[in-house]
Amino acid sequence: MNTQPAPAHLMIVFGATGDLAHRKLLPALYRIDQDRHAHQGHAILGVARAPGDDASFQKHAAASLAEAGIDPADAQRWAAATLHYQSLGDGGPEAYRRLARRVAEIEQQRRLPPNRIFKLALPLPAFAPTIEALASAGLTESGGWTRLVVEKPFGRDLSSARELNGLIHRHVPENRVYRLDHYLGKDTVQNILVLRFANSMFEPLWNRDRVERVEITVAESLGVEGRGAFYEQAGALRDIIQNHMLQLVALTAMEPPAEIDADNVANEKNKVLRSIIPLEPSDVVFGQYHAGTAGGKVVPGYRQEQGVAPTSTIETFAAFRVRIANWRWQGVPFFIRTGKRLPRKVTRIVVTFRRPPVAMFHTMGSCAINANRLELALQPDEGLNLVFDVKQPGPGLNLQTQRMRFRYNEAFGPLPDAYQTLLQDVMRGDRTLFVRADEIEAAWQLFDPVIATKPTVHPYAAGTWGPEAADRLLTERGHCWTDLMPAPAGPVPM
Ligand code: BG6
Repeated sequence: MNTQPAPAHLMIVFGATGDLAHRKLLPALYRIDQDRHAHQGHAILGVARAPGDDASFQKHAAASLAEAGIDPADAQRWAAATLHYQSLGDGGPEAYRRLARRVAEIEQQRRLPPNRIFKLALPLPAFAPTIEALASAGLTESGGWTRLVVEKPFGRDLSSARELNGLIHRHVPENRVYRLDHYLGKDTVQNILVLRFANSMFEPLWNRDRVERVEITVAESLGVEGRGAFYEQAGALRDIIQNHMLQLVALTAMEPPAEIDADNVANEKNKVLRSIIPLEPSDVVFGQYHAGTAGGKVVPGYRQEQGVAPTSTIETFAAFRVRIANWRWQGVPFFIRTGKRLPRKVTRIVVTFRRPPVAMFHTMGSCAINANRLELALQPDEGLNLVFDVKQPGPGLNLQTQRMRFRYNEAFGPLPDAYQTLLQDVMRGDRTLFVRADEIEAAWQLFDPVIATKPTVHPYAAGTWGPEAADRLLTERGHCWTDLMPAPAGPVPM
């Protein structure tokens, strides 16, 4: 991966007055600029429909940075030195010609080479018209380089994803496209590859001979938080499973790449995605939360959330059994689940190893006990747990399960935000942590049949781990979900 300072450039952020820009992008860009060696100089041009000028945008941005915990005086200084604004008004061809003139003007004023990054922080329906308009205004070609950053959702199904990729490729070649999935920017997610391929002790265990099952959970305790209208169009499958979770499956299951670079990593991830056995109805459980108790408070059900239809059948929970038909993973189920209004926010990959071939100690038997496992804590308490049995001191051969822990914050302090890492990679031209067009299409290919069959949506109470059917997905096959409630100090509760 490239760690050189990025060449000087102009970053043009569409949707600059929106929520993503203010909560994530601007604080990440501010933090990137705190490193003097991050790049050789840049400016940021915010673009949105709303009227405004540099000064109003700088003021608005400084307020968002202060909300993100940045010192208000530093935030103001940075905003004034770095940010510009251009209103797109009606978004017609003349507006884009004005934008092209403004881009050239800023580049000239600031003596920046014509290296341009277009970041679309826009809803999906706006992607295609914006890219077409940029191309018509001649903005996608410059005397330097141009890069296009788009963020999920990458389409709504296979055909819309193909259409979007086709449109992008008419104007921007794949090696200049950065499809951003913020999970890939998390250090703990990147650590999956480091753990597997920089350490020799895991590799001999990482296969169907030694692994019984893999569980991946992305649980959230919040509901849809004012995003009801968006969520009605998405649901758990499109919001989390098709992108974040399938990427986690691919990184956990992939073969070592020839080199850690964009194409070699994407090739290996893509091979995993293409080896997944088509999903059957019995591999899928959908759920939707009704009113319940979360964090000690009574909370409304999904259908009572703002922007949600009172008869909505959108899934706020989804669990899948994923089977990978290749030499490494044949016969090892990957159980994946995500949901809103679950008991806690936690993202974990749990690799459960097979039991010893002979049951010498009497406590073996149920699916919950005495299995060795490696837990990758992606968030919170970022780190690793290795879970194994020891002899309890004293008479007799009584076993107790114990956990060995590594915690990122104890070793390194706070982790950088995913957007900081990813935007910095875009500036440097490193696509390793981005998703290639064929991965997106392979992921939709897997889920198109699920979307078409409209699985039954089972109710679950807010504050629980989803519908019972999700437990049965495992128990019917002799497994059960690993308990993900925070571990008290001492022996691992079973
Ligand atoms: C986003 C989803 O992609 O990821 C949200 O649209 C979800 O619904 C979020 O809350 C979760 O991200 P993280 O980083 O908090 O796990």
